[in-house]
Amino acid sequence: MSLHVDDLLTGHRPSRAGAYRLLQYAVLLVGLAAMAAVTMRGLQPGTRTWLHLCLWACLAFFAAQLVIKVWPRGGAVGQTNYLFTGPGLIDTLAVLPIPIALLAGVPADTAWLLGSLWLLKLAAVLPGLSLLGRVIALEARPLGSVLVIFLIVLVLGSVALHVAEREVQPERFGSLPQSLWWAVTTLTTTGYGDAVPITFAGRLVAGIVMICGLGVFGLWAGILANGFAAEHRRRDFVRNWNLVARVPFLRELDPTAVIELTRMLRRIDLAERTVVVRRGRPGDCMYFIAEGEVEVQVEPQPVRLGAGAFFGEIALLEGAPRTATVITTAPSTLLILEVSDFRAFTAMHPDLALAVEKAAASRAGIKKSSAATNDQSDA
Ligand code: CMP
Repeated sequence: MSLHVDDLLTGHRPSRAGAYRLLQYAVLLVGLAAMAAVTMRGLQPGTRTWLHLCLWACLAFFAAQLVIKVWPRGGAVGQTNYLFTGPGLIDTLAVLPIPIALLAGVPADTAWLLGSLWLLKLAAVLPGLSLLGRVIALEARPLGSVLVIFLIVLVLGSVALHVAEREVQPERFGSLPQSLWWAVTTLTTTGYGDAVPITFAGRLVAGIVMICGLGVFGLWAGILANGFAAEHRRRDFVRNWNLVARVPFLRELDPTAVIELTRMLRRIDLAERTVVVRRGRPGDCMYFIAEGEVEVQVEPQPVRLGAGAFFGEIALLEGAPRTATVITTAPSTLLILEVSDFRAFTAMHPDLALAVEKAAASRAGIKKSSAATNDQSDA
């Protein structure tokens, strides 16, 4: 792909929301550091006072955040419903438990440990967390099956170890709960080594349990990785589908072709004045403009292409370097079609190939005639 990220002519300016989020993270970091520091022994009284001041300042910040969110806006309607939402609950947990603990007479250093609840604020803003929740929900069946295998190996392994080792090591394997502890540490591949079988039968069982432990965790990791990949594909497909619908040229294809193409396209969001392709560079993809606008820098006049248009096809058709530099003139969303997908798709759908070739021929024609005009005027 010929996108030059370092070709950004103007960078993004952080939005106010972004700056506010950064401030929230900074307060969180300072608060957690102060909470950890205050637990250290041998602190000077002055340092301890400063740390407590710092913790109070962080608590005040989070309290102010909560008040702003529940403060009635736009008339008499209050936002108290916010308190009963997930983020509202997290904001409340970040503010109320510490003063309640202090008022209940819990020592200050212990009460401030409740500041660890501030970390939940991160969970509220992490987009990956909702993705994880969805993957777990979708993969609940296979994950549950592996959990059942885990439990079967756990119980059978601990019973076998109990039988094999109870006579020789009654202090470690004398009861089933003791053997279960060994099975949990072995099956989870933690292996503290505080309980080790010494009989031949015990070691044989231990070997089987260890191998099963690796298998179970391998299966869990595989199921989750597969679930994440499938969910990403699903989300990309839905997003691309909506974008493809905005490109009239693609909308005219038959539905199965649109589905096929939607799977091939990759979306990219670009800021204004980003160089997308640079003249003379090799090209290995073409672009459809779903949103925004680009400027093709050709002589004598630059050409502007808006939503629904495409560019970058000449290099793919002719196997030649890019014929012009293309820059976004507004924040734009482009759909990228890689050369291998372009070839596969146009082989199956000659109508698209024809339309692209026609556009390329007319653009190349314009370029040639403007080059000829330049040559004549040079002469
Ligand atoms: P390519 O040469 O791969 O990369 C630059 C792209 O700019 C080119 O493909 C065309 O898609 C586009 N382009 C070149 N000349 C013109 C033109 N005269 N009008 C519109 N687009 C053009």
